[in-house]
Amino acid sequence: MNDETYNYAVVRKFAVMAVIWGIVGMAVGVLIASQMAWPAMNFDTPWLTFGRLRPLHTNAVVFAFGGSALFATSYYVVQRTCHVRLFAPKLAEFTFWGWMLVILLAAITLPMGITSSKEYAELEWPIDLLITVVWVAYAVVFFGTIATRKVKHIYVANWFFGSFILTVAVLHIVNSAAVPVSLFKSYSAYAGVQDAMIQWWYGHNAVGFFLTAGFLGIMYYFLPKQAERPVYSYRLSVVHFWALAFTYIWAGPHHLHYTALPDWTQSLGMVFSLILLAPSWGGMINGMMTLSGAWDKLRTDPILKFMIVSISFYGMSTFEGPMMAIKTVNALSHYTDWTVGHVHSGALGWVAFISIGALYFLLPRLFGTEMYSKKLIEMHFWIATIGIVLYITSMWISGVMQGLMWRAVNADGTLTYSFVESVQSMHPFYVVRFLGGVMFLTGMVIMAYNMFKTIANRQPVVATIPAPAEAH
Ligand code: HEM
Ligand code: HEM
Repeated sequence: MNDETYNYAVVRKFAVMAVIWGIVGMAVGVLIASQMAWPAMNFDTPWLTFGRLRPLHTNAVVFAFGGSALFATSYYVVQRTCHVRLFAPKLAEFTFWGWMLVILLAAITLPMGITSSKEYAELEWPIDLLITVVWVAYAVVFFGTIATRKVKHIYVANWFFGSFILTVAVLHIVNSAAVPVSLFKSYSAYAGVQDAMIQWWYGHNAVGFFLTAGFLGIMYYFLPKQAERPVYSYRLSVVHFWALAFTYIWAGPHHLHYTALPDWTQSLGMVFSLILLAPSWGGMINGMMTLSGAWDKLRTDPILKFMIVSISFYGMSTFEGPMMAIKTVNALSHYTDWTVGHVHSGALGWVAFISIGALYFLLPRLFGTEMYSKKLIEMHFWIATIGIVLYITSMWISGVMQGLMWRAVNADGTLTYSFVESVQSMHPFYVVRFLGGVMFLTGMVIMAYNMFKTIANRQPVVATIPAPAEAH
């Protein structure tokens, strides 16, 4: 045993910021949800309008909250499983400040209406360049740590984190290629349907590698740790990895059904989306079965509750996704709230819950103390779960209703409902969604309180790196 310790400084910063950005991003989500129920909530102020705040919400929850959770967990896991300190600690520190600067610039430019208009890639070219620099630094730190590891085997969670880092780099660079015309305006390097295809190749794989592969990395490390059980099948986890990485990359065209995209490309996207069910469920079952023999722990362990419910939502949204990718189903679901319901069963149920579980695992270890209150974690779990149920069920009903109302025709071929009638019918569901969002946000505020109370009790952390001969 030597007395060298892991580098937790940067992990701590990202973990705390994940909670804070979670609150900010979800608060914006709640505000835009309220605007859909009560349009006056934009206060007639341009920078508070739905069109400007919606991308602020998506960027804040996906890249600021989700991104900070991924940085924190990947930096923690790669050190613990490789038995070395982070490679290039100064560069790791730079990734933190660089990422925070990107978020700050997003929070300023998006409400000002400065946007490239590409969904999930709205930020203008100078910020895109900054993202590239920070991301390359992240790759150097992560893969440098893997390269200097003291353990021969590369644990499967690192494969998932590694593929997330590599793929996001390629997606970002290709999709953001643009011709700048001024500091705040650029035009995509691609035109017409090619632009759409590149955009959804990016968009879908942002889901596949940012919102899925990275968080599967979290699942494969933190779930076995919290359950104190080995991964159910390590072999399945490796098959899961390769099958998922291969299949995701082809599924993007399901976002462009019935568009100018050639029909065969749409069908290809649909078929690969259906195939995607298999690796996704393989991974989901692997996660669930890891709890074999430890199910009783669910009664008393709220952190495990977050993780297991999260894996259930992963299973649910990866069943729903392939169904929505079937062209005839998509003819009903596309442009409706059904998509929004699908997004949030993945985003709140899977992404946010697995991150919250991992953060509750990490915080006491990063600050050398116990969590301030287990009761508050339990409370957070229930309030957030009810919030998700309200959110997604209201969106399912309103989505299917929208789809049916829009396609209903009278005997003479005229539309049965005007568009505004469908908007009116959505109102009660938008109110329920707003309430669900308020509950989910309240859970995050409880978490922040618990976190700051925990930090107030912090002790020096002793996290020694095992000598090479010792088992992990
Ligand atoms: C097997 C896995 C999945 C498949 C095949 C799939 C398929 C789909 C389909 C067909 C759509 C609707 C496209 C449209 O009509 O415009 C969609 C939308 C979306 N899905 Fe999934 N999904 C999967 C899993 C997930 C997961 C796990 C998440 C989140 C964590 C997610 C996030 C999204 C997002 C953000 C959109 C909205 C994109 C947009 O229009 O802005 N999906 N997905
Ligand atoms: C309190 C929690 C949340 C609330 C109230 C909320 C609310 C909303 C609302 C109102 C929209 C716009 C829907 C529309 O255009 O019709 C939206 C979109 C979106 N939100 Fe959230 N959200 C929350 C949390 C999250 C989280 C945690 C994530 C990701 C990790 C997320 C990801 C997204 C995405 C990707 C979209 C775009 C969906 C699409 O294009 O179909 N949201 N959200």
